[in-house]
Amino acid sequence: MATDKLTMRNELVTKSGGRGHVRIEGVAKTFPVRDGEDVTVLTEVSLELRPGELVSLLGPSGCGKSTLLEIVAGLQAPTRGRVTVDGVPVTKPGPDRSVVFQHYALFPWLTATQNVEFPLRLAGVDRGIRESKARDALKTVGLAEVGSRYASQLSGGMQQRVALARALVCEPAVLLMDEPFSGADAITRDILQEELHDLHTRLRNTVLFVTHSVDEALHLSDRVVVLGTRPGKIVKEITLDRAALGAMEPADRERTLGALKSEVWELLKSIISDAGTYQAR
Ligand SMILES: Nc1ncnc2c1ncn2[C@@H]1O[C@H](COP(=O)(O)OP(=O)(O)OP(=O)(O)O)[C@@H](O)[C@H]1O
Ligand SMILES: [Mg+2]
Repeated sequence: MATDKLTMRNELVTKSGGRGHVRIEGVAKTFPVRDGEDVTVLTEVSLELRPGELVSLLGPSGCGKSTLLEIVAGLQAPTRGRVTVDGVPVTKPGPDRSVVFQHYALFPWLTATQNVEFPLRLAGVDRGIRESKARDALKTVGLAEVGSRYASQLSGGMQQRVALARALVCEPAVLLMDEPFSGADAITRDILQEELHDLHTRLRNTVLFVTHSVDEALHLSDRVVVLGTRPGKIVKEITLDRAALGAMEPADRERTLGALKSEVWELLKSIISDAGTYQAR
């Protein structure tokens, strides 16, 4: 990772002051279940994402990462607490927030361009503007040449990039990503991570990024948030000083990140052993 990229990204985090200020305030979520017992998944989660910040959510399977992301997306309502984006309470999905899921769910019978245009079509945007925005979004993710190909004719990595372009086409202030690269093979995953890193440097969206990979979280994030389980709540936040990391000699950087990795792993192992269950993946 080049030093200048890290430095630039740190500057945008501290200086952007723009859109995408997310406040999660005392959020709890309880699901009613069929046999009469409620399941409390999240309790008292409070987290603030500054404009332009990339925050990763890590935690054992079932601790409520996707639930929290869906609450920020407006796809689920919290049982208690609230979420605001730029001061506006989230009550439903909106164009200020886009979601990228693990399963990118492109329409195979539409071309890449038509898939990217889709949210604009739903919003009633004129065809000319739609096409030009879709072209720009595909260019942003490095797929300018494949707009006329059907989604089914693209590789998995390309399809995930099209899904990212579709998420970006509405110019959301906040990008919500739920294990977006976990379906990719190791090499494609590395490439997609680098691309997200570069994209975040250029676009400065606020990003909430759910992952199971400690390496991925440490590599991409300004802050790593670990959720505990039963019920899910924040047990640790690690802020990464990207500028300082970028200024380090590579060996020192690796050593620093290695120590953080061990710390997070130990924490995850203790959460899992306390909970007594873990769905390994
Ligand atoms: N609609 C629902 N009704 C009842 N229980 C639900 C519902 N949605 C999620 N849950 C439960 O809430 C808990 C948290 O689910 P969630 O998908 O948020 O976990 P997660 O941390 O994203 O897990 P994973 O890492 O496996 O994706 C799980 O026990 C799940 O079964
Ligand atoms: Mg999940």
